[in-house]
This record gives sequence, structure tokens and C-alpha cells, in this order.
Amino acid sequence: MTAATTLSRSALLFLSRRDGLKEVATRVGPLRELARRFIAGETLEEAVEAVKELNAQGLMASFDHLNEAVRNEAETQEEVREYRRLLARVDALEVKANVSLKLTQCGLLFDPALALKNARTIVKEAAARGSFVRVDMEQSAVTQATLDTVRQLHSEFGEERVGAVLQSYLRRTETDARALCAERVRIRLCKGAYLEGPEVAYQDKKDVDAHFVRVMRVLLDSGVYHGIATHDERMIDATLDHAAKQRLPKSAFEFQMLYGIRRDLQVRLAKAGFPVRIYVPYGRFWYPYFMRRLAERPANLWFVVKNLMKG
Ligand code: FDA
Repeated sequence: MTAATTLSRSALLFLSRRDGLKEVATRVGPLRELARRFIAGETLEEAVEAVKELNAQGLMASFDHLNEAVRNEAETQEEVREYRRLLARVDALEVKANVSLKLTQCGLLFDPALALKNARTIVKEAAARGSFVRVDMEQSAVTQATLDTVRQLHSEFGEERVGAVLQSYLRRTETDARALCAERVRIRLCKGAYLEGPEVAYQDKKDVDAHFVRVMRVLLDSGVYHGIATHDERMIDATLDHAAKQRLPKSAFEFQMLYGIRRDLQVRLAKAGFPVRIYVPYGRFWYPYFMRRLAERPANLWFVVKNLMKG
């Protein structure tokens, strides 16, 4: 990574955390248009249409209602209502999809007990409808609280109803992965998308990638159904190699990718017979999610700047 790339990544991730911009950004027309590449729409119905198209191409989905770092109880209640509505819609339409949820959307930043209560209501709804809730992983300040909450919900509802996410940029992740696998918690492994310091996270891409491969092997060897979430063909090839070496059936794990990124690869893997799930975010508060996507690839930023200057 060049110094300029590192700087623009840090700046974008810093800006992604500016709460005040969450509302403002939604009103900037050209930004909103550009965000559409990564976001299925602002309404549930738009997201449902996107998921139907993915299903038609042999891809599964995970809906995510965008909102995070919620600071008051009333807003967390709205999120619970939205997820219950979403799960009911998924059930009624029989689309191939589960849901992803952030605990800061449920109140984790100001009241962990409330976050657990809200998440429990959502997982209970999912359980009643035979669905599954993936609890996204956010910044390292909430890693432990997030895993504690997932463990609690897992003990109440079981491995088929709720699962965790681990990030290979965090130094602690291999240890977490081994412990969670022993408890049969389903894991989504990704690289990690937040701004983290060297005390907790690898800073060098090659260390993040090497850790990803180590943890991927732990997951695939565990006999639990996990998700390998990446668009990096080297990580995908390492996964395919390890699965072949261990003679795992294609159905032993799933690949996961983000809406709007590497559609060619998504379809190619699905056509080869691997389960592939696409993360489909929707909602009005797309700003922090969009900024994290820009930070992942500096070329995206130039695309935005060019379009804003045109418009
Ligand atoms: P890497 O960043 O090395 O990219 C590999 C290639 O993918 C690039 O060369 C490019 O071709 C393509 N690519 C990647 N990002 C792109 C972008 N934004 N725009 C265009 N092309 C892009 N993170 C987190 O912290 N908590 C979470 O809960 C989740 N959840 C999650 C779910 C799913 C299904 C996925 C796929 C990812 C996440 N992430 C996440 C995000 C993850 O941590 C990571 O930031 C991104 O996946 C990018 O990393 P890659 O593994 O794709 O590798």
C-alpha cells in the first residue's frame, strides 16, 4: 500500500464515523446515485427486488437494514420493527435469504442489556420463521461485547439461528475462531473494514491476508458451517485448495460477497456449484457503509470525485 492510499483510507474511515454526516449525505443527490452501486435501495421492497434477481442467478442473500451507532432507545425499537417486518417478508416470499444485524443498531453503544434484549427479539422472530441472524462485527471497541452477546443468543437459540463475524485484521481472531468453533458457533470470516491501531490490528495487508488463510483453515477443519467472505481471488483460491485437500463437499461452507462487488466472481463460483451468499444492504442511512466501501478501494474515490465534479 502506498502512503497516499493509506492516508486516503484513514481519511475516509475517519469521515465514515462522523454521525452528523449520516443525514446530510442522504440529501446529496450525486452521492446517493453513486452509493447505489453498493446499496440495493432505500426501501425494503427495492431490496427484495434485488434479492429476487440474485436468487434467479443461483445466489443466496443476507439482507442488512442500514443503520449503526444508534444513540437512543426509540430508534433501536424502530430497528427491531424493521427486522421483524423484513423477516416476515422473507418468509412470505420464500426468497433465499437470511439477515445481518449490527448490535450498535440495537443500542450496544449506550446500553448493552438493551442491545441483547433487542437482538433477542429479532433472533426469536428469525427462529420462529426458520431463518438465521448473522451478527456483523464492528469496531474493536465492541468486539468482546459483540461476541459475548452472540454467545448468549447462541446458547438460547442454537447454531442454526445465530452466528458471528470475525475479522482477520484483528490479532485476537485466530484465538476467537478456535474458541467459537469448539462451541459450534457459525462464523463469517472477513478481513475487517474499520480504522484500527497497531495494538489490536495488523497494519500490513500481507499479515491480514496470511491471518485470513490461517483462520480459514481452522474454520474449514471444524465441521461447522461457516462463511468465507471475501472478493480476493487469492483468498478464494486458498479456500478452494484447502477444501479440496480436506476432501470437503462443496456444501460444507459458503462464500459470501458484497452487493455490487465482483458480480462476475459471484456468478462463477455459484455456477461451479459452491453456495454463494450476497450481502444486500438497504435503507436511508447508507453513508458509513458507503464510506467503508470507498476506503477499500481508492479507485472508487476517484470515480466519486470525477462524478461530483461533472455534476
Ligand atoms: P481486498 O480488500 O483485498 O479486495 C480484493 C479485491 O476485491 C479488490 O482487488 C477488488 O477487486 C475487490 N474489492 C474489494 N472491495 C471493493 C470495493 N469496496 N469496491 C470495489 N472493489 C472491491 N467487515 C467488517 O468489519 N465487519 C463485517 O461484519 C463485515 N461483513 C462483511 C460481509 C461480507 C459478505 C463481505 C464480503 C465483507 C464484509 N466485511 C465486513 C468487509 C470486509 O471486512 C472487507 O472490508 C471487504 O470485504 C474487502 O475485503 P476483501 O476480502 O474483498 O479483500
